[in-house]
Amino acid sequence: MITKPKGTSDIYGRDAKIWKYIEEIVDGVMEKYNYNYIRTPIFESTELFHRGIGESTDIVTKETYDFTDRADRKMTLRPEGTAGVVRSFIENKMYGESLPVKCYYNGTMYRYERPQLGRDRELTQFGFEVLGTDDPISDAEVISAAVNIYKMLGLKDIKVHINSLGDSESRDNYRKALLEFLEPNKDKLCDDCKKRIEKNPLRILDCKIDGDSDILKGCPTTIDYLNKESKERFEELKSYLDILEVKYVVDPKIVRGLDYYNHTVFEIKIDSPGLSNAQTIGAGGRYNGLVKQLGGPDTACIGFASGISRVVLALKEQEVKLPIKEDIDVFIMYVNEEERKYAVYLQQELRMSGFTVDMEYTGRSLKSQFKQAERLNSKFLLILNSEDLDNGEVQIKNTETKQEDKISIEYIMYYLDEQLVDMEDSCDCGCDDHHDSCECGHDCKCHNHE
Ligand code: HAM
Repeated sequence: MITKPKGTSDIYGRDAKIWKYIEEIVDGVMEKYNYNYIRTPIFESTELFHRGIGESTDIVTKETYDFTDRADRKMTLRPEGTAGVVRSFIENKMYGESLPVKCYYNGTMYRYERPQLGRDRELTQFGFEVLGTDDPISDAEVISAAVNIYKMLGLKDIKVHINSLGDSESRDNYRKALLEFLEPNKDKLCDDCKKRIEKNPLRILDCKIDGDSDILKGCPTTIDYLNKESKERFEELKSYLDILEVKYVVDPKIVRGLDYYNHTVFEIKIDSPGLSNAQTIGAGGRYNGLVKQLGGPDTACIGFASGISRVVLALKEQEVKLPIKEDIDVFIMYVNEEERKYAVYLQQELRMSGFTVDMEYTGRSLKSQFKQAERLNSKFLLILNSEDLDNGEVQIKNTETKQEDKISIEYIMYYLDEQLVDMEDSCDCGCDDHHDSCECGHDCKCHNHE
């Protein structure tokens, strides 16, 4: 048997519905914030990621899926979405349009990591980027949009951790302080970090071996080395987060594992013991130097991305009730060939009128058809028999109330419409907020009404 590659998943059944639901919420929130959808290639030239994410990052040195194409070009499956968006911004001269450009994406990324719960080799991220503004309002907007997506999904205990790496002067000052701190412990560092100390000491802080070790206890933090301007900028961001009522903690430990960041960096965590390593469900930050570094004009940017598999884990861990449709409106049943033909016709008519309908295709007995309708959670059964059809009638059964009616074929649509509306109106959540005013557009069993 051929099995899926390690670190990949087949998403199907109820999980696939949860994924679709998350994507719909992302689309809805992004529309409200006026971000446009962007699709960039899943593979790009290897150089893009080396120059963009940083030669000495774990992602570039250990985790990329690289290949040479048939014309000997070096290619890499994208490990994240930001570098591709920036490449596209430059190549399509989007900087010539009115700025900022606000875009969002949703797609698969590839990282050769050690697979564990919430850490995949093929991961799907949704993310968004704002290119062309340095105003801290946009930092606050990106963070609040991310939080609002999680809130709309029904997640609780969302913790926003923010930090600032400052501008290049602040980062240089911090680098010097970090080197001074690390110098006496140089020999105790892992082999990779011994190399990093020369090239990029900041990366030692997110090393999977040394990152949590005693060597780094008491190590200086970026926030203590911010110059006046960077400090003021960070204070401004905090004041906007307060206006937007986004609760946050300043977490000086956050440095992020990608080289392109400066000023604001943030991680969004969910407080759930069951999530362990996967508790960071989304992260992002400002990357003012990246567009220029990749050959475009000096452009200030900020963005965020979130792993969908981690969001799904968080929703399950918190047992969030999701308004996912797990039933159908009508199941059509029949016995003989004449009825079968009519079922095919009726099914088409009902589907075209907006109902979710299924019928029997495999020649099962009437008894098995009842079982199949039950498995599909059908709200109504349409039971066809030739005699009724000759009289222009069908038998219809409400599977919940067990009420059975014989109705004229012409009347089916009205009957279903009326009954389905009645079923939706009988809200069982006990609130006064009924369907017309429901924010999410789904029925009252959704978390918005809890
Ligand atoms: P990142 O921190 O590498 O940042 O990834 C962002 C999010 O993607 C993580 O918080 C996590 O939810 C998810 N993620 C990362 N790796 C995995 C994995 N192996 N399996 C499952 N989920 C994963 C970035 O990717 C930046 N591009 C974010 C950004 C956008 N910064 C600015 N703009």
